[in-house]
Amino acid sequence: MFKFPDNFVWGVATSSFQIEGAVDVDGRSESIWDRLCKRPGAIADNTNGDVACDHYNRWPEDVKIMSDMGVGAYRFSVAWPRIIPTGRGATNQKGIDFYSRLVDGLLEAGIDPCVTLYHWDLPQILEDQGGWTNRDTAYAFADYTETISRALGDRVKTWVTINEPWCISVLGYINGEHAPGIKNDWPKALSAAHHVMLGHGLAVPIIRDNVPDGEVGITVNLVPNEPASQSGADRDACRHFDGFFNRWYLDPVFGRGYPADRVADLVKAGEIPSSDLPFLHKGDLETIAADSDFLGINYYSRAVIRDEKAENNDPPDVVSTKNETDMGWEVWPLGLEQILVRLKDDYNPKAIQVTENGCAYATAPNADGIVEDTERIAYFDGHIRACAKAIEQGVPLTAYYAWSLLDNFEWAFGYEKRFGLVYVDYDTLDRTPKQSAHWYRDLIQKGGI
Ligand code: FCB
Repeated sequence: MFKFPDNFVWGVATSSFQIEGAVDVDGRSESIWDRLCKRPGAIADNTNGDVACDHYNRWPEDVKIMSDMGVGAYRFSVAWPRIIPTGRGATNQKGIDFYSRLVDGLLEAGIDPCVTLYHWDLPQILEDQGGWTNRDTAYAFADYTETISRALGDRVKTWVTINEPWCISVLGYINGEHAPGIKNDWPKALSAAHHVMLGHGLAVPIIRDNVPDGEVGITVNLVPNEPASQSGADRDACRHFDGFFNRWYLDPVFGRGYPADRVADLVKAGEIPSSDLPFLHKGDLETIAADSDFLGINYYSRAVIRDEKAENNDPPDVVSTKNETDMGWEVWPLGLEQILVRLKDDYNPKAIQVTENGCAYATAPNADGIVEDTERIAYFDGHIRACAKAIEQGVPLTAYYAWSLLDNFEWAFGYEKRFGLVYVDYDTLDRTPKQSAHWYRDLIQKGGI
């Protein structure tokens, strides 16, 4: 058995919009996801976050479930529209009180809270002023960070500033599947990504001031990739893919600025007029490179890259397997080991936390009420083994958060994709821990795999 370090953190993760519901109570204002859900066709099953898992009301039960599972930490996000409903300005005490109660409940149960400040539910009122494409939003985010870290910083010691800048940028402004649902607008995608990262950089010193004994970092979603063949075309396509999926965020966070090769690709493709990045102000790169305590990474799958347009390309010698989750994402645990080792070799962060890893499978309760999600157990088993191998190679991995505690609102897919360790019956809102939850409890108890 590989024994994880004694202080290794085993957690579960969720996000506000995906589980809370209660969208119009206690002063919460509309978020960009409430708005997107109203757009016909935007959500696969025509649902929304109005009720979700009703975690806003049922959180004590959810804390109890986590406590039975024996998790050491819970990563959740705070909904900005609950805290500052007007985006910037007055604080809504009722919103703060909700998270304050949750934090107290967690601590009483011996579970450390890990707060994500931004997991995609921007107040719509800020979107009306340009959202993340407007530089002011980064400063509004800093003000919101000030408010919430003051309120919770005495009890919350782990802070994630931003969740997944790539998704915010590409899904929000290129393929348009995520809020604000804009398509094929590279200038907006790039400026939104920049302002999100600027927000991260502005937030770090605020957290440091308000939570001197805390730790802070950003979470990026990374996709390790390899060329389908060793042809020049495939290798170049791979460089191109890696440039925007991974390096575009890692490089600035680690003080290297934006990757020049990828900027040149954007210009060459006519996606931006020139290599001057108009949103980039003097000093921004220093701000973004704020010294943080850990890097959060979310890992789901890898990519095998083929240049489909290349003529006479070499035959592929790497192909994706057909072992896929309900998302159509290949199950590829080796990718997690590889990306962790690459981070250590290329960027050398002080610490790394896997802030999300998990899989969607539809498994429902059987006649005896048991949810036999063996595929999910296999997924977690493989990926936690990958973490163990990375640690053996010297990667400073300190935490692993399974995505997700509950089946929940999977963004543009609605409730059709079930990522939970706990099954949620959306008619009754009853929760049933799946076999994977019991398996995870046993793993945590043993502290190894
Ligand atoms: C990540 C998101 C998370 C969840 C998983 C499946 O990109 O951070 O909210 O949707 O994917």
